[in-house]
Amino acid sequence: MSEVRQRPVQQPSSASKEQEQDRDRDREHNKIDSEEEEKQKPKKQHSRTKRYYDEDDARISLLDIVRVVVTLVLAFCGMSYYMTSRESFLWGYRPWFTRWPLVVQYFRGPINLTPEQLALYNGTDPSLPIYLAINGTIFDVSANRGMYGPGGSYNFFTGRDATRAFVTGCFQEDLTPDLDGAEELFIPVDDEDDEEERKLSSRDRKLRRERELRLAKAKVRETVAHWVNFYRDHKKYFEVGKVITPAKNDNASESESKPKPTKRPLCEAAQRNRPKRKDLKKEEAERKGKKSN
Ligand code: HEM
Repeated sequence: MSEVRQRPVQQPSSASKEQEQDRDRDREHNKIDSEEEEKQKPKKQHSRTKRYYDEDDARISLLDIVRVVVTLVLAFCGMSYYMTSRESFLWGYRPWFTRWPLVVQYFRGPINLTPEQLALYNGTDPSLPIYLAINGTIFDVSANRGMYGPGGSYNFFTGRDATRAFVTGCFQEDLTPDLDGAEELFIPVDDEDDEEERKLSSRDRKLRRERELRLAKAKVRETVAHWVNFYRDHKKYFEVGKVITPAKNDNASESESKPKPTKRPLCEAAQRNRPKRKDLKKEEAERKGKKSN
């Protein structure tokens, strides 16, 4: 058996007693301090959450962004309404889906009309839209009844394909899609008493005529394209469909016997508007003179 040695219990001296008392006092103080701290704890916690709230307030919330965006949009639309004299909230821009006839047209799809069917859409029947055609494409121009409706200055264009009149400006004579011979409008008129002209060989004259014809035909195409684009890009008009020519029943022998239609002559006003070779030469000479100076 091992012998357990017991340490002799030291009797506290008076100095160590004092130390012990000091420690007890410290412990007591610390206890009070920690109690004080405990008491103050909820207060501290509260102030910390408050700080969190403040930080949250400083951050931009989604609602703030929505508020700013809505205010800006309203200001934008309001300004537009005021500046465009109450005409538009979007500075004149009108999305296609806000235009009813266009929406209806979108769902209906393109329509094909014969010239006879197209004739009904000339504005005389107020229940029908107003259509005009150019180069076989039909456009709805009902948005401008004042100009295209009955009594309007350009009513003659409606209910038909009057492409030729768009080129020549012969508003009574040329209300037809037939462009044959319309290029004459752009071919210069020869001056009879021009010495230079008389000196030209027939070959040179032929070559010049061919060149001028080519240019004139290109100008006709350009003019037609200009008007087609005018209606296609117009903010009030829109494309509706095509003009179709119904299949003819007459047999081949009958059509063979028919005389070939002669070229439609230019109307008087268009003839007068043709360029004069004399003037063209003068212009060219002036241009050359300017270049050499
Ligand atoms: C080849 C000759 C011409 C063609 C093809 C032509 C065609 C047209 C077309 C299609 C419009 C309607 C535009 C729209 O829908 O907004 C128009 C408008 C107009 N054109 Fe011409 N035009 C020609 C010559 C002239 C001439 C020579 C004059 C002047 C005497 C003229 C005066 C006008 C006027 C004043 C308007 C506006 C009409 C209105 O607001 O009621 N045009 N033109």
